[in-house]
Amino acid sequence: MVKTESFIKINDVTVNFSNNKNVHTVLNHMNLSIEEGEFVCVLGPSGCGKTTLLNCIAGFQKYEGKILLQDQLVSKPGKERGVMFQEYALFPWFTVEQNVAFGLKMSGMNKQQYLELARSFIRMVGLEGFEKHYPSRLSGGMKQRVSLARVLANNPSILLMDEPFAALDEQTRQHMQSELLKIWEQNKITCLFITHSIHEAIYLADRIIVLMPNPGRVALDIKVDLPRIRDRNDDRMFHYQKLISAILEGEVA
Ligand SMILES: Nc1ncnc2c1ncn2[C@@H]1O[C@H](COP(=O)(O)OP(=O)(O)OP(=O)(O)O)[C@@H](O)[C@H]1O
Ligand SMILES: [Mg+2]
Repeated sequence: MVKTESFIKINDVTVNFSNNKNVHTVLNHMNLSIEEGEFVCVLGPSGCGKTTLLNCIAGFQKYEGKILLQDQLVSKPGKERGVMFQEYALFPWFTVEQNVAFGLKMSGMNKQQYLELARSFIRMVGLEGFEKHYPSRLSGGMKQRVSLARVLANNPSILLMDEPFAALDEQTRQHMQSELLKIWEQNKITCLFITHSIHEAIYLADRIIVLMPNPGRVALDIKVDLPRIRDRNDDRMFHYQKLISAILEGEVA
């Protein structure tokens, strides 16, 4: 098989939604490539199609055009794509350990194997000691850690994250960002991370994509050329912030 140069290739992708005979083009002939191991953040105003794009890659949304993941056409969800949403989406009747082990158990692993693996991911997200706790007894940040551990336990090659830290307080959010970067570096996972926060995008991303609406299109695609671990108060961050703000505020066509 001839290998394409990109890990994900979004090729001429269009999504139309129709309601009451009106057709709303959400993504319009979009083209985008994501490289293996890249950390890509997607920014854009509400309604511009960020979640729709993520849903297409996740296999949840029908689209026109082609999305190739490692040369395979995306037409349905798959285990190699780990999806994480803003809501915690944990089973409230399961403990932390049972939540993280769920997918592993379903895949037919024996109990000793799946518990061992689940516990290693619980450790990875810093929740050792909370294995037997139920989600109702955890803070928002801890619940998102459990969600992350559950997604990671399925050994995805790409993480698709839709504003996963938006509901967290600023301090917890910053902590989660740092933790996510560590996990990303250790596991060499490709990340597509949607956010409304320009700061979050500049702190996390190798590359930032800004989408603009009506119809959804790529308005900016820029590499963040700053070494990690990034200093949140680094003056060089302002360069990116100004550029992105100008696009979002419509100062640049
Ligand atoms: N299933 C659907 N049926 C009809 N319209 C939809 C559907 N899903 C999304 N839309 C519309 O498509 C547009 C893009 O939605 P999407 O959720 O992708 O935006 P978004 O960029 O993620 O916004 P936000 O930042 O608020 O999460 C919106 O106008 C939305 O109303
Ligand atoms: Mg959204």
